[in-house]
Amino acid sequence: MIEFRNLKVIFKMDGMDVTALCGVDLELNRGEILGILGESGSGKTVLLHTALRLLPDNAEVSGQIIYKGEDLLTLEKKKAMRIIGRDFSLIPQGFGSLNPLLKSWLQISERLMEHSGIGRREGCRRAEQMLSETGIGSPGRVARSYRHELSGGMIQRVLVSMGACGSSEVMFLDEPTKGLDEGKKRLVIELLRMVRGRSNSMMLVSHDLQLLKEVSDRICVMYCGDIIEVSETRAFFESPRHPYSSSLIKSLPSNGLRPIEGEIPSMVSPPGGCRFSPRCCESSTKCDSSRPPMFTDGRTMVRCFKYAYA
Ligand SMILES: Nc1ncnc2c1ncn2[C@@H]1O[C@H](COP(=O)(O)OP(=O)(O)OP(=O)(O)O)[C@@H](O)[C@H]1O
Ligand SMILES: [Mg+2]
Repeated sequence: MIEFRNLKVIFKMDGMDVTALCGVDLELNRGEILGILGESGSGKTVLLHTALRLLPDNAEVSGQIIYKGEDLLTLEKKKAMRIIGRDFSLIPQGFGSLNPLLKSWLQISERLMEHSGIGRREGCRRAEQMLSETGIGSPGRVARSYRHELSGGMIQRVLVSMGACGSSEVMFLDEPTKGLDEGKKRLVIELLRMVRGRSNSMMLVSHDLQLLKEVSDRICVMYCGDIIEVSETRAFFESPRHPYSSSLIKSLPSNGLRPIEGEIPSMVSPPGGCRFSPRCCESSTKCDSSRPPMFTDGRTMVRCFKYAYA
């Protein structure tokens, strides 16, 4: 469906390079929900924003993003945006993603109105319907409110409605349940399941392992701008391959909430070899000096020398 090939993103800051993605290879299959997991700053949002051509001008991008036979990165911006606007949708991360000057319903239905030709009255009705499916008690009021008039939980569900309204071939979801209590989270999960029937594929970024376990077909683990494991969800939770993935599973409350020691390294001067090596209790000298290639057994891909099978 979408293929990321050797994707690199470097942010040019004042005399400093921040390497946000360091050669990502990843495929999103038709009809699947691909969960993306990783600590803060590992490059999850940058990955989604690169596909949507949303990166700021100081981002230097190389590699390819192939969709329907075209490279979205080299395609002329206007043409790329036409494809992206028609086929992709985004549930963005964070409250700042809502325009404070527009009422919620307009932001929810804007894309739908543009691409399906429905009018404002129908747009407003569809926005209300979408909001009520997220469990909001007064969808009419929320639809007609501005950002500053809404609570955090309401804003989060406006964002979910924005991404879920209309039918898109690929949905990009950036922490759709962040800040919601368990009950509201359930409703959003149900909504995602429902939308899945209409939408072809999803890339779902979340720190919420339980959410990813429930809805994802495969899990992709990012660490410091790199993909270090891609596994089927069940296999991932039963027998994670990469030492970092194992640490993430062990940090689950149900597994005793054991935190991962050490800190995620700087993206300005990341470690030369395996980026997890300084925090890895299984690392060897080889891990410090060279980046492991992606090893695969046909089902799981893992970037760790432990799996250098023939
Ligand atoms: N506009 C920007 N300018 C400079 N650096 C940036 C910019 N956007 C992101 N970065 C850097 O790129 C790296 C990856 O950021 P990204 O937002 O993708 O992280 P993330 O995995 O989504 O984290 P979180 O879980 O906190 O949302 C970080 O080091 C971040 O500081
Ligand atoms: Mg993010």
